[in-house]
Amino acid sequence: MQDALARRQVKISPSILACDFSRLGEQVSDVERAGADMLHLDVMDGHFVPNLSIGPGVIKSLRAVSGLVFDTHLMITHPLAYIKAFAEAGCDILTFHIECADNISRTLAEIQKHGMKPGLSVKPNTPASAVFPYLGDIAMALVMTVEPGFGGQAFIGEMCVKISELREEITRRGLNTDIEVDGGIDASTAPLAINSGANILVAGSSVFGAEDYAHAIKNLRSAAKRRRIKD
Ligand code: DX5
Ligand code: ZN
Repeated sequence: MQDALARRQVKISPSILACDFSRLGEQVSDVERAGADMLHLDVMDGHFVPNLSIGPGVIKSLRAVSGLVFDTHLMITHPLAYIKAFAEAGCDILTFHIECADNISRTLAEIQKHGMKPGLSVKPNTPASAVFPYLGDIAMALVMTVEPGFGGQAFIGEMCVKISELREEITRRGLNTDIEVDGGIDASTAPLAINSGANILVAGSSVFGAEDYAHAIKNLRSAAKRRRIKD
């Protein structure tokens, strides 16, 4: 499995939650120039999580200024009702939570029907096995390494077991599913997540909170590489 992991290219998806929202477009362009692979867009409804953020309108405006893969993370109770709006806004990947109130298979099928890649996310208390029945229908599993709702929280190390369980099942079934990790990712925690089998790193504070985005992204990439070679 280590060989397969070593061949898998690590992608960095900076989260706009850590942006200065008065300069959002400018900071997104800067992070694109700095070498980000994707842009992580956190959508919160004040119900599924105790916080509010952005919706399809802001994403549509960003689409006009960015060519990055739009990696949208819905922390909302009823994703099914908003799929069309996020497709029209220009999202590429649409991830929602398995703990939401809508039918999971139907929501995944609708996302695909609207031309986006479906992702499924799990909160820290939800086991990896909850995702297993849907692995054949998703492009990406998103493992939350903090309780969703806020940026700047500490990485929960116990989630590495969940990442490994998912990667083992994906490999066992011969699938090509991405595993993204989200919450508390920096140069010290990135290697733990990568070594466990993740291949996409969401990074809010550690990229947008840095003076030099390119340096922060480079640090994340080399931290991930160093650890894999050492092991
Ligand atoms: C939290 C969001 C994250 C958040 C990550 O609910 O899903 O994407 O922005 O922020 P950091 O990297 O600062 O933990
Ligand atoms: Zn997120």
